[in-house]
Amino acid sequence: MAKKKSKTKAKPAKKPARKVAKASAKPAVKKAAAKPAAKNGNGAPRISKKPFGMDGKALDGVRILDFTHVQSGPTCTQLLAWFGADVIKVERPGVGDITRGQLVDVKGADSLYFTMLNHNKRSITIDSKHPQGKRVLDALIKTCDVLVENFAPGALDRMGLTWEYIHKLNPRMIVASVKGFGPGPYEDCKVYENVAQCAGGSASTTGFRDGPPLVTGAQIGDSGTGLHLALGIVSALYQRIRTGRGQKVLCAMQDGVLNLARVKLRDQQRLKHGPLTEYSQYGEGIPFGDAVPRAGNDSGGGQPGRILKCKGAPEDPNAYIYFITQAPVWGPICDLIGEPTWKTDPEFATPRARLPKLNQIFARIEEWTMTMTKFEVMNACNAVDIPVGPILSMKEIAEEESLRATGTVVEVDHPVRGKYLSVGNPIKMSDSITEVERSPLLGEHTDEILTKVLGFKAAEVAEIKNSGALSAPEKKEKAA
Ligand code: COA
Repeated sequence: MAKKKSKTKAKPAKKPARKVAKASAKPAVKKAAAKPAAKNGNGAPRISKKPFGMDGKALDGVRILDFTHVQSGPTCTQLLAWFGADVIKVERPGVGDITRGQLVDVKGADSLYFTMLNHNKRSITIDSKHPQGKRVLDALIKTCDVLVENFAPGALDRMGLTWEYIHKLNPRMIVASVKGFGPGPYEDCKVYENVAQCAGGSASTTGFRDGPPLVTGAQIGDSGTGLHLALGIVSALYQRIRTGRGQKVLCAMQDGVLNLARVKLRDQQRLKHGPLTEYSQYGEGIPFGDAVPRAGNDSGGGQPGRILKCKGAPEDPNAYIYFITQAPVWGPICDLIGEPTWKTDPEFATPRARLPKLNQIFARIEEWTMTMTKFEVMNACNAVDIPVGPILSMKEIAEEESLRATGTVVEVDHPVRGKYLSVGNPIKMSDSITEVERSPLLGEHTDEILTKVLGFKAAEVAEIKNSGALSAPEKKEKAA
């Protein structure tokens, strides 16, 4: 594993120190050095005597060469950083990750698009096509454990960084890539989020039957694939302990989306054996075609479900609740909505008898839910173990105290934009506590990485800098 990164903070005069978000109620974690754990006689590490959460982080000692941009790759490397990896983000001089300047809300500051996807990383600017830039990249490849990239197909090779080249330089290096498509007819295509949602089967199965396909707000193509890639990387790191060598890890966005849309491929095969009885269109007597239809808000889990109005709807666009008529809680549902006879009436008592009457049943439940707010409905239902889902707006989520307390929503301070909200690590570990640090400014750690990580001497740093390999084109001209 690579040496632990220097925890030296940038000088406050030029670069304010990276503040750790105080959103979590957890105690501050003491940073542990990534020294190898003492071994027992059988070769296994001795059981730590430190309190949980005080013995470093899961990926301490792992160093990542982060060649990612936009959303999919950065999601992955941000997670690895939260687990303690030293993530060094390589960015193009002058512009950096294109998202720094996209959807800008505060003039002159890195966008939320960038800051919310690049916490806990260090940034170095390198022109990867410049010979001196290549020299720095080679040094990084030798010292890093994983290279993560999500360039367009072939871009890494065009930089001269083929798998063969990297593997020769550092046989332990894991090379992890996000691409739009896996090998096949579309492998050379550039792909963004919604392209993947469409190609992965999500869009064709999302929306209402009589409307067009829909993409979802959750970024299952980008962030979803980043999550998949992170799992591939930690698995490859684990395998490397045994084999000693790195490997290629590839996640195609189409594959990632399809993995998340798995239940719809399940339904595609069920179609051969008859109609999909839990889909509303079955109850409405509308025949099925030869492909899985869009199912509106029907539940994908085999239990009929709908989104129902609560008090305030439709004026309040989020005064709704997701209601599932799960068979085990049919009795309590009937009691709550004031239809106790439905518990024993053969027309309603069994799931099979209810299927053709779902419109009638949900209309009756909605009469009841409309008498209360979504939170009152939730309280009444949960009191008798009926799972329901209030439709939470992003405003409500941003203000939700319990999400702040767990560090799922964190407030982060940024030297240029000030305070902003971000989503913290959704994966909680008892012995690897996440501290959310602000995203780096463009090239903020260039000097630190050249000297402290790569060990270049002052004269070498000057030579590399004067070559223009680390600066924007206009500065290059001056340097020339
Ligand atoms: N120094 C020099 N050149 C650099 C550089 C650096 N530090 N960083 C990037 N570049 C170059 C690349 O080498 C490439 O040059 P080339 O085309 O001559 O080979 C160029 O910048 C553009 O890179 P590319 O990845 O093609 O960016 P793009 O903006 O044209 O396309 C995507 C963006 C996202 C569509 C594309 O990268 C892609 O399909 N990625 C894989 C799928 C993916 O992750 N999509 C979702 C993103 S959220």
